[in-house]
Amino acid sequence: MPASSLYIGLMSGTSADGVDAALVEFKSDKIQLIDFISPSLPKALKKSLLALNDSPHLSLEQFSQLSFDIALQFSQAAQMLMTKNRLQASDIHAIGSHGQTIYHAPHIPMSVQIGHPAFVAKTTGIQTVADFRVDDMALGGQGAPFAPAFHQVLFTDDQACFVVNIGGIANISFLPGNRTPNQPPLGYDTGPGNALMDDICQQFFDKAFDENGELAKQGKVDSELLTLLLSHPYFLKTHPKSTGRETFNESWLEETVHQHEQNLGTTIVKQTLLSTLCELTAHSIAMEIKKVTMEHLPIESTLKIPVWIVGGGAQNQHLISRLQNQLPHYHVQSSAAKQIDPNAIEAMMCAWLAQQRMALNTIPLSAVTGAKRDAVLGGLWLP
Ligand SMILES: Nc1ncnc2c1ncn2[C@@H]1O[C@H](COP(=O)(O)OP(=O)(O)O)[C@@H](O)[C@H]1O
Ligand SMILES: [Mg+2]
Repeated sequence: MPASSLYIGLMSGTSADGVDAALVEFKSDKIQLIDFISPSLPKALKKSLLALNDSPHLSLEQFSQLSFDIALQFSQAAQMLMTKNRLQASDIHAIGSHGQTIYHAPHIPMSVQIGHPAFVAKTTGIQTVADFRVDDMALGGQGAPFAPAFHQVLFTDDQACFVVNIGGIANISFLPGNRTPNQPPLGYDTGPGNALMDDICQQFFDKAFDENGELAKQGKVDSELLTLLLSHPYFLKTHPKSTGRETFNESWLEETVHQHEQNLGTTIVKQTLLSTLCELTAHSIAMEIKKVTMEHLPIESTLKIPVWIVGGGAQNQHLISRLQNQLPHYHVQSSAAKQIDPNAIEAMMCAWLAQQRMALNTIPLSAVTGAKRDAVLGGLWLP
């Protein structure tokens, strides 16, 4: 491998808010983010993707069109990033393209990412690594989350810590720290992140999301509804586990709220619903962090355990303060406090996965996903 090389990572998460594109330089063992952009998806495309959460049905014609449309958005994001940084295709070693997940079904097992990499490779003129998740699933793994392996590279310090990615869905990583070398990272999806809050904001408040958590902050938490939401079997499952919008979507929320309203004989105020959903995200994350701590960390230190927040949820002050409130023995803060851009991490991870695939390195994920072994992940499409 050359002493230094540039990669582009492309990602769009379950929120379908935009295509994250990170320009990353790998210099010996250092990973440096050079630039990050996140152009929004066209409204109609976002609408088509979000509609699939509640009704995951597409004709093959629609599926093909959507996969092509997403591929072009991914390719355009990569080209915008190159133009902005005055780079040519020949300057980039490879693209790592996650694609857009439209169906995640570990029980089958299958995880469907669209945005065919052939179009990304051919339209950018850059070799493209993609289709990471099915490789893990073919070995019996959940195919998700992948973040813990990358968080370990980016965040590991002497002290053990947690990294919490709050996107549409939330996932935690537990990094044992350098004092216990050779211990692989752990992690899993904890349940909903911002997704259900976004749904309520779009449906009742004419907003894409709850800026800073201001609306949720003004409302009250309905503790009975919270208990009912937390009775979903996913929260009781032990790891490895992963989930998606097929499980935590508006249909499930409507049913649960309806049941709650029937029990009480009243209608829930929308702001109360939003505050309760924010609490659901904080509570379900905190619950799992405490569980992993009990299982894996001897309680010896009086130091607070760091909890780094990444993903769009890092910008929701109210959510962070609710999480801190649930976790008094931890120090909860955005990864920005560690000079790591919380929004760029997932796209950086895609660049890293491409770099690892080109080097034929295995990714230490079997302890996370439950796969039979660690494997080289991703297929390669040439320009
Ligand atoms: N300023 C903000 N205040 C509150 N929430 C925010 C803010 N900025 C982004 N978000 C939340 O983050 C989400 C996007 O997060 P992201 O990590 O991109 O998720 P995904 O990986 O699912 O695409 C938005 O839909 C929104 O809910
Ligand atoms: Mg996103």
